[in-house]
Amino acid sequence: MNPLPLPPDAACALIGPPGSGKSTFARTHFKPTQVISSDFCRALVADDENDQSASADAFDLLHHIADKRMERGRLTVIDATNLRGGERSWLLGRARHWQRPLVAVLFDVPLATVQAQNASRDRVVPAHVVSEFHALLPTVDQLHAEGWDTVHLASPLTHRTSS
Ligand SMILES: Nc1ncnc2c1ncn2[C@@H]1O[C@H](COP(=O)(O)OP(=O)(O)OP(=O)(O)O)[C@@H](O)[C@H]1O
Ligand SMILES: [Mg+2]
Repeated sequence: MNPLPLPPDAACALIGPPGSGKSTFARTHFKPTQVISSDFCRALVADDENDQSASADAFDLLHHIADKRMERGRLTVIDATNLRGGERSWLLGRARHWQRPLVAVLFDVPLATVQAQNASRDRVVPAHVVSEFHALLPTVDQLHAEGWDTVHLASPLTHRTSS
């Protein structure tokens, strides 16, 4: 994969539906401590990264860790879908509070590719859920309008369409 240059104090959201490659990308580009994953936080509070009933507690934890890292000016990467409701607005607000550069990485992966990747892994999310999340993908212009300083498209950074 090509390198992804980020300011060392950036607040970064990976944005994409289940199966789009966010965690794979995070493992390639960042140190484990720089990535805060909603799945891992679910596992920390409920011993099960798929336990959706633990989501509220998991996001409380995710927010707490992210806020501490941003206060300290440490690179903070949020590995969650970041597609629903307040998920992005929370990070926008807190990163502005700590005056950290806001970077979005948009997983602009075609639905058919996401469905195929999802279907071929151990933890398969129901296909209709993947479709519902995929339909929520914002455009680059929408992300800039929300206030993200930099928006990277994931596809040119991965081997699928690297040029
Ligand atoms: N660039 C890629 N090319 C081909 N396959 C990929 C690529 N990125 C990820 N995959 C594969 O797609 C599957 C899903 O990837 P991954 O678990 O990283 O998705 P995710 O966005 O983190 O999903 P979730 O939101 O459910 O955690 C994995 O099997 C992974 O190996
Ligand atoms: Mg993941």
